[in-house]
This record gives sequence, C-alpha cells and structure tokens, in this order.
Amino acid sequence: MEQYIIRGGNPLAGEVEISGAKNAALGILAAAIMTDETVLIENLPDVRDINVLLEAMESIGVKVERITRHAVMMNSAQIGDVSVDYEYIKRIRASYYLIGALLGKYKKAVVPLPGGCNIGSRPIDLHIKGFKALGAKVEIRNGFIFANAEHLHGSHIFLDTVSVGATINIMMAASMAEGYTIIENCAREPHVVDVANFLNSMGANIKGAGTDVIRIRGVQKFHKTEYSVIPDQIEAGTFMFAAAATRGDIMVKNVIPKHLEATSAKLLEIGCEVEEFDNAVRVVASKRLCSTNVKTLPYPGYPTDMQPQIGVTLALAKGTSIVTESIFENRFKYMDELARMGADVRVEGNTAIITGVERLTGARVSAPDLRAGAALVIAALAADGITVVDDIVYIQRGYECFDEKLRSLGAEIEMINSEKEAQKFRLRCG
Ligand code: UD1
Repeated sequence: MEQYIIRGGNPLAGEVEISGAKNAALGILAAAIMTDETVLIENLPDVRDINVLLEAMESIGVKVERITRHAVMMNSAQIGDVSVDYEYIKRIRASYYLIGALLGKYKKAVVPLPGGCNIGSRPIDLHIKGFKALGAKVEIRNGFIFANAEHLHGSHIFLDTVSVGATINIMMAASMAEGYTIIENCAREPHVVDVANFLNSMGANIKGAGTDVIRIRGVQKFHKTEYSVIPDQIEAGTFMFAAAATRGDIMVKNVIPKHLEATSAKLLEIGCEVEEFDNAVRVVASKRLCSTNVKTLPYPGYPTDMQPQIGVTLALAKGTSIVTESIFENRFKYMDELARMGADVRVEGNTAIITGVERLTGARVSAPDLRAGAALVIAALAADGITVVDDIVYIQRGYECFDEKLRSLGAEIEMINSEKEAQKFRLRCG
C-alpha cells in the first residue's frame, strides 16, 4: 500500500499551478453523455475519481478518447445500456450524476444506490424528490435506483436542504424535460455554475445558476461543444493553508480568486498576508498565526471541504479556536490523528475545540478521507520530524500529483511502497 513519508519543518515557498476542479468535472463528464455529438472537455484533473467515472461511462457504451492527460473527446451516440454497475458507484459516489443525465436523455436510468461514506451519511432523497417532481417514477429495489418516465415535464421544486449534488442532478434532468422548471433553494457553488455553463454550451437553456433560484426551459436535443473546466478551489485552498501552516510564501496560480474569498478571509483573520491577482493568489505567513472561529456553510460560506485544512493550521496557532462542522456529521476523524502529533484538540458533537500548540511532532497517521488526508499532510509538513501517512489512496482521489507539487515548493515528501523505501528516506532526510 502506498504511503507518504514527510520530513516537516521547511516553510513552503514558490509557485504552484492548480488543476481543473474535480467536482465540476464529475458533473460535466456525466452531462456530456446527453448529446449524441462529440464533446471535447479540457482542463480535467488527472485524479482517480475522474478516471473511475470515465471507466463507468465506457462500461455503458460511451466512446472516450484521451487527447492529452487533461483532455478527452467523448461520444455517447452508442450508449447501449442505461444501467451502471455497482463496482463504480462503490468507488465514486458522484457517479450518481449519471442518473440525472441518463434520465434526461433516455427517460430511464438504473444506478446502484450509493451508501454512506467516511464523512457521514449521504442521503440522496432530494435528488429523488426532484426526479419525481419532473414526472419520473423512481423505485429502490435490490440496492438499485430505477428511474423512468414516459415524458419528463417542467416543475417547481423546492430543495429542503442546500445540496450541490441534488441541484446538479435535477438541473441535468430538467434541461431535457418538456417545459419550464424552477428549482429553489439551490446550491450556489462554482461547480454548479460550471455544469450549467457546460449544459448551456450544448444548447440547454438554464438561467440563474450561482443564485438560489435556477430556471430551466427544457430542450429536446443537445449538440457538440468544447469546454474547459474551472480551476479547483479546494486544491487551491489546500495549498493556501500549506503556506499558512508552514509559515511559507506560495503563489497559487490558475485560480479564480472570487471562488476563494471565504478561504482568503479566514487566512487574513489568522494573520496571513493574502494578495490577489487576476488569476493567482499569494499567501505569506511570516509569524505565528492566531486563533479564530469558523463554521462550515454552503457557498459562499466557508466550505466543508476546507474544514480539515484550517483545523490543522489552527492546531499551531496562538490561542483557542472553535471549528463547527454544519454540513457532514463525521468530518472530525482526523482530530484523533492530529492529537497523535501532539495537537491539543477536543471534539464535542459537531464542534472541535482546538488550543494551538507551539509545535507538532511527526507520527504515523492514517488519512480518514480525501480532504482530511490532505490536511494531515499539511500538519506533517509543519511538524518536527518524520510523519508517515497511510491510506493515501483517499488523497489520490482528488489531488493531482500532490507530492510532486509539494516537492516543487520545497517540501520533503515522497510516496513509498515499502519499509525499505521508508528507511532510505530516513537515512537521506533523517
Ligand atoms: C458535494 C461535493 C463534496 C462537498 C459537498 C458540500 C461533489 C462531487 N462533492 O457533495 O465534496 O463536501 O458537496 O459542499 O461535488 N443532503 C440531503 N439529501 C440529499 C442530498 C444532500 O439531506 O438528497 C444533505 C447532506 O447529507 C449534507 C448536505 O445536504 O448534509 C449537503 O450535501 P451535498 O451538497 O448534497 O453534498 P454532495 O453533493 O454529496
């Protein structure tokens, strides 16, 4: 099993290029099956989740041609099967976007029901509610969702909870329904806007994405397009906190600074300098940072996917911070690992109370999920001594060349496969 081995203590400095947004790309790839014409998608991140979704799509008959590491041509004229295998859903929850896309185009879809996951229960009742409101019959049998409709028709849908997945899934199905759909209490995340822009570039008629009311006039057919995915705001934010925690100086390039406002605001609050450029953000931390309180919220609030990164940074800040997780119930598992590195943390329900310590020390820790795994790498980079991070397969789901990008900023980090490789690293970097 692959691990990261890290010797901490170097302030990270230099420039890093951010890849395309994984969560936008997942929605866009699924939506791309809605046309029979050929679609070119660029700026895809080369990460495990994207590659698994592409495999899932190939398994139902989508022709996928990789043009470069970051671009694919797709043709979905020959989809022979609207039934997706459990193997893929197990490996990547977001293959549920295929329900909205298949239902919109073929008026039927058979997709396994995704289970819970490491960050908590992940129901999809709102997605189903939306499909039903559009006229689909939705049944759950033998672990599968069977959705089908004679016709999909426009509807007025109110989402009880702000959900990125439900907003995107319903938007896809509604964009090929007959008539007019209004979705209220929508998620406003940049990737909702990106998927809507992509659908519009294929001929959809979607207005209001990025606000909490989306209006959709259904169309019958989509056409070919060429589209480039937006930069990944969570990858960008992760490097911004890597600069903060290691008291470094990083220019994070190929970003949309507007998407990073909640992250930048928190970094300023804890004592970093943050400088915005047209498509870059520079974060400098020249002194010990100070505590703050933070609560995760839907966009434009502070993102739940950035909660562990600020959590590990606050573990080294002066004073006591309170971090409240209001989106997923099980996102503090990394706190136990952080405590093993010497952090002073206490979790009570959906709140973590973090009293900053002067230094963390290297330990063997395990990545509990994607973002928490990346956060533990940040903690290790800021800690004294050597840390080994297990279960990095989670991190590889969403970060392209994470170790390589960190090394280019001066980090001592390596991916290893054996104790022998670990010993070599220790001898070299001890
Ligand atoms: C997406 C992101 C994930 C991020 C999350 C919140 C992708 C592929 N994943 O996940 O990285 O952490 O947004 O920003 O884009 N809920 C329901 N019923 C539903 C759907 C959701 O109750 O049918 C609840 C969830 O339990 C959660 C909240 O709504 O408490 C928000 O979840 P949601 O925005 O749907 O997250 P995902 O789309 O799964």
